[in-house]
Amino acid sequence: MGSDGDDIIQMDHVFKIFGPQPRGRALTLAKAGMVKNDVQAATDHVVGMTDVTFSVKRGETFVIMGLSGSGKSTAIRTVNKLHDITDGHVYVDGVDVQALEGRPLQEFRRVKMGMVFQHFALFPHRSVLDNSCYGLKVQGVDRAQRERQGLEALELVGLGSFARSYPAQLSGGMQQRVGLARALASDPDILLMDEAFSALDPLIRRQMQDEMLAIQEQLQKTILFITHDLNEALRVGDRVCIMKDGAVVQIGTPEEILTQPATGYVAEFVQDVDQGRVIKVQEVMHEAVTVDDQHTVQQTIDALGDKSGAFIVDANGRPHGLVTAADLASAEHRGESSLAAAIREDFESTTRISTLNENYASAGIGRPIAVLDDGGSLIGVLDPREMIEEMGRVEGLIDGFEREVFM
Ligand SMILES: Nc1ncnc2c1ncn2[C@@H]1O[C@H](COP(=O)(O)OP(=O)(O)O)[C@@H](O)[C@H]1O
Ligand SMILES: [Mg+2]
Repeated sequence: MGSDGDDIIQMDHVFKIFGPQPRGRALTLAKAGMVKNDVQAATDHVVGMTDVTFSVKRGETFVIMGLSGSGKSTAIRTVNKLHDITDGHVYVDGVDVQALEGRPLQEFRRVKMGMVFQHFALFPHRSVLDNSCYGLKVQGVDRAQRERQGLEALELVGLGSFARSYPAQLSGGMQQRVGLARALASDPDILLMDEAFSALDPLIRRQMQDEMLAIQEQLQKTILFITHDLNEALRVGDRVCIMKDGAVVQIGTPEEILTQPATGYVAEFVQDVDQGRVIKVQEVMHEAVTVDDQHTVQQTIDALGDKSGAFIVDANGRPHGLVTAADLASAEHRGESSLAAAIREDFESTTRISTLNENYASAGIGRPIAVLDDGGSLIGVLDPREMIEEMGRVEGLIDGFEREVFM
């Protein structure tokens, strides 16, 4: 198995056993599918990773999420060979990482990756700038060049004006940004971030997530991001890999994880997440009914079927009026036949990639919401009822799993 172009990191049936004889019976049992606790009871060896397979695409933010002890750090450390693996293969850019030794390994780590840890590990007696370009100094990059790159990285994380400060003069969040700048300074292809934000206060943490997303938008690095917090995983990840007891439980986009949890274990996690924050309008919207404003009330009622409203659009597909089923019903009740009196010019609109939460206020009005493309043309309708139904469906899915027995 080599690199398939789009994939920059590939884990191929990787096992990591801790103990005096990692390749002995513990590995045999793990390979036969025995779970971590049983392997440990039988052999006194710890299963760090068992049959882990995933690949990370170039430019992707790939999150590994799991409880403490699930094997996340072990997994990230196999990517730069801070850990040897017991079985399987790890490829980075087509290179078999396990086969690297000595200088080529050091070179590979320096050039390919930057690592950010939970604890900032800054040098207290070096300036912020010196900290941010420390890796480059080790690489032998001359002073002027490394300070230029260090400063650039500090500017990326919003700390350009603190270059001459010392770590102790910075808040925890700022120190962690220096950690990020240090990883970015050598412009590596891959960022490895192990619980990088986990020690920060929730508010600062969210700011850091936002900043990382903004930086990522600009730099398009490949990020392997580890967290034990599903909310964080869903917020920053293009895809999320959920691990339990050293094994991969599910890999999917945040929406897939939320709306199609693969097991009761995932569903249990998902329960605590505000789904409206992740599910996007495009998951729920349906095709719009459009009518001509010359239609009669009765014609429009017929066109509407069971939908809750129809839009009147111009020649470019831009909506300029809404008729709701409720307004049509009362127009019919009043015996009106012309549509004009039932048309509203005030209606809510949204985009397909906004989240359900972002549309709660509009949905509260209770009328269909126009989904518009960048040019303002109507591409669908978000029906407040369907929004609620989708949330209910996901809840139901989770309740269904609760009858399972999980361990
Ligand atoms: N050096 C080690 N020696 C023995 N066991 C280890 C070692 N490192 C990790 N483990 C074990 O491997 C499992 C996975 O650990 P880790 O990858 O650190 O989990 P996570 O980062 O998800 O909290 C745990 O059971 C842990 O105790
Ligand atoms: Mg860890």
